Amino acid sequence: MRRPGYDMNVFRERRQMLATRAKGSAVIIAAHPEMIRNNDVHHSYRQDSNMFYLTGFEEPDSILVFRPGQTPETVMFVRPKDVERETWDGFRYGPEGTEKEYKVDKAYLISDFDKMIVDLLKPVDKVYYRWNTSREFDEKMLNVLDQVRSSLGRTGRGHLPVHDSWELLGEMRLIKSSGEIETMRKACEISANGHIEAMKFTRPGVNERQVHGVLVGSFLMQGAQREGYGTIVASGSAATTLHYVFNDQPCREGDLLLIDAGAEYQYFTGDITRTFPVNGKFSAPQKKVYQAVLDIQKQLVAAVKPGLLFKSMQERTIEALTDVMTELNLLKGARQQLIETNAFKKYYMHGVGHWLGMDVHDCGLHVVNGAPRKLEPGMAFTIEPGLYIPADDMTAPAEFRGIGIRIEDNIVVTSTGQENLTAKAPKEISEMESLIGTGK
Ligand code: GLY
Ligand code: MN
Ligand code: MN
Repeated sequence: MRRPGYDMNVFRERRQMLATRAKGSAVIIAAHPEMIRNNDVHHSYRQDSNMFYLTGFEEPDSILVFRPGQTPETVMFVRPKDVERETWDGFRYGPEGTEKEYKVDKAYLISDFDKMIVDLLKPVDKVYYRWNTSREFDEKMLNVLDQVRSSLGRTGRGHLPVHDSWELLGEMRLIKSSGEIETMRKACEISANGHIEAMKFTRPGVNERQVHGVLVGSFLMQGAQREGYGTIVASGSAATTLHYVFNDQPCREGDLLLIDAGAEYQYFTGDITRTFPVNGKFSAPQKKVYQAVLDIQKQLVAAVKPGLLFKSMQERTIEALTDVMTELNLLKGARQQLIETNAFKKYYMHGVGHWLGMDVHDCGLHVVNGAPRKLEPGMAFTIEPGLYIPADDMTAPAEFRGIGIRIEDNIVVTSTGQENLTAKAPKEISEMESLIGTGK
């Protein structure tokens, strides 16, 4: 018998918090669909973040119906026990095991969902659901809502209103509890250690793919479940491609290596980027660009505190990087004009950060009631300024062509300021230079 590796109180407490925000409703969450990889083989499975957040349940083909204040309140629909399928694909909890191990009020077979859901929805006055995550489930929901409508007869109630569960749960997930911050600390520590191992391993002649292997090996050896997103290992001018995916080139003498990688630990992910010289020594032009980005990144991190507008960090980054662009003779002109005409986007074209948590680009609104969001304790996000000078940019000074730099840390807002969860990953020039290539 398999046992869940998580404390069920955590999920119960989250459902209690949800209950106070979603009174009178039913919140319906479907498991992430399985994806065929080829023939009868599936892509490795990861549960939908919201389903995991509320239940800890990791099987596909399952549905949560949560009805605050009703009996039963937490209802799950899950796959049946099936000796033959379990011989091939591994253990399933089945309804009985789900009730017992996941401490939900009732668990039924997934095949009973269609006939039971109408009765479960009769006492509620609205539904929370996220459209457009699965076409197949959307169709099921439309059908269900029609049936509920018919079953209500001439009550004058019309269709049950459907609200967005994404926003409801996103606002909960945006503010991390102390337990969640502890899990993020661990995910970030594992991620930072992976970057340290990658720095030690790197030297001229190693392939990007080998560096990728070192990162993944380190993450898994430390207890991570998987990477939190597609790792980027981009040497030389590949670093100027923001979402480089190939990770298959040799790392050459004289080039920089940009690594953007994070480990997922208990469904929370780190998201670290470091950029360093393959041969262990920054050239003068590389050092100039790197130090300029690092100074900005450190100032941004230090300025984080409750009350700061998230969008002000982006404004500050654009101003500071535009100044660097003129200092390096990449652009000419007045700062304000270069910003107003979007000229800076030639070398810096992404946001300076995003919410971070169970998803690498985590949920949570950026505009609340029409106003830009202010930072509050418990919010976690990345700070990742970068500068990317294309190799074929004939207007840039030749010494800077092909240099791509991004430096990314993971920050959580505290009551007085911030904690940098990824401070352990070296980013100072001297620190990195004394580490690179020192591994076996
Ligand atoms: N690794 C994706 C990002 O930094 O946004
Ligand atoms: Mn990021
Ligand atoms: Mn990243």
